[in-house]
Amino acid sequence: MNNRRSTIDNQQSLLLENIGQLTTFNPESGKVETNSNTSLSIENGFIVERCSGGEVIDCGGSLVTPGFVDSHTHPVFLDGREEEFAMRLAGATYGEIAAKGGGINSSITGVRNAAKDELAVRVIKRMDRFLKLGTTTVEAKSGYGLDIESELKSLQVLHEVNQKHEIDIVPTFLGAHAFPPEFVQDHNGYVDLICNEMIPEVAKQGIAVFCDVFCEKGYFSVEQSGKILETAKEHGLTPRLHADEFEDSGAAELAAEVGAVSADHLMAVSNAGIQKMAENNVIAILLPGTTFFLGKNTYAPAKKLLENGINIVLATDFNPGSCHIQSMPFIISLACIKMGMTIKQVFASATYYAAKALNLEKDRGSIAIGCKADLIVWDIEKLMDIPYHVTDLPIKMVIKNGKPIDSMR
Ligand code: NIG
Ligand code: FE
Repeated sequence: MNNRRSTIDNQQSLLLENIGQLTTFNPESGKVETNSNTSLSIENGFIVERCSGGEVIDCGGSLVTPGFVDSHTHPVFLDGREEEFAMRLAGATYGEIAAKGGGINSSITGVRNAAKDELAVRVIKRMDRFLKLGTTTVEAKSGYGLDIESELKSLQVLHEVNQKHEIDIVPTFLGAHAFPPEFVQDHNGYVDLICNEMIPEVAKQGIAVFCDVFCEKGYFSVEQSGKILETAKEHGLTPRLHADEFEDSGAAELAAEVGAVSADHLMAVSNAGIQKMAENNVIAILLPGTTFFLGKNTYAPAKKLLENGINIVLATDFNPGSCHIQSMPFIISLACIKMGMTIKQVFASATYYAAKALNLEKDRGSIAIGCKADLIVWDIEKLMDIPYHVTDLPIKMVIKNGKPIDSMR
């Protein structure tokens, strides 16, 4: 790990001039707004009204937006699982592969056997890639250790990388990602281990903000998930959960009952689940990259969720098994094409509402005085060009904490 943060701390003034369109969600009006032919002042990593002197960047009339906030990722693993991708191409489903010993459990060996530094090298590489793709804040889950030592190691790696890398990492404890081999015959024993030992230790070390559970048939039941999330709350961790990804199991309802900040996936959410989420202000984090990567055609019901007044957030779900995608611009394209969302909706969902899903909307996810200067200077002129370019990456420069990233690479 190299120490880049000292460079950031010395950063002072930066003026972005000749911005063609400055586009951001405005929480006050509740709308996506564009300011044309404008400039932006930055001081000590934050957006200010006017800065004095410092570096000047000519944006050449291009689009400037907030950096993306990716609110659902699983980046702490050692190796990829390309062989499972090949198995799916040959006709196997995600469930069949998991039942044969693949899936989440097949990433455990790598994490358990890896030294902390070895794991950190992999995580840093992935964080470098997130930043290049315009993601300036990323939520990151543990969940491939599934014993106390390896779950703590995963969260400690995230903590250490967060100290040294420019990107902001928001850590989530996901010990309840799957039942590890030593507990296949004793699921409740593993739930007890999570509640009695893992959560208290994670909380004591202060290395997670959120607690997540994979609540799904074959994984954690609604009852087990509820127990874990209630325990998490008692220890100061905020609940969120993987809900109704493949089958409706009443997980969206549970999200509402435990006061989870978000219910994620929701490909199979029921009308009753939607109703309960709406009544309790649960944010829906939709992950169309997973649907796409698994070769499925039933995307989460974005329009129905929006019609019910639920805030939608878009995230990558980056992980070695079900979605090896790190690009928020590509997720935006998918959400437009496959879920029928408008460009303004997808943009707000990938920036402001995404920050809200991490309780960070006060100083990021939008461009306003006092917000962090986490920005993308694009190589395009307007918002619609983002999904239009699909897999090209028309990004000129990513600015994190007021510092142009490319200048440090
Ligand atoms: O969000 N659904 C649970 N967890 C991941 C998959 C993780 C894996 O297959 O390694 C997901 O899709
Ligand atoms: Fe996930």
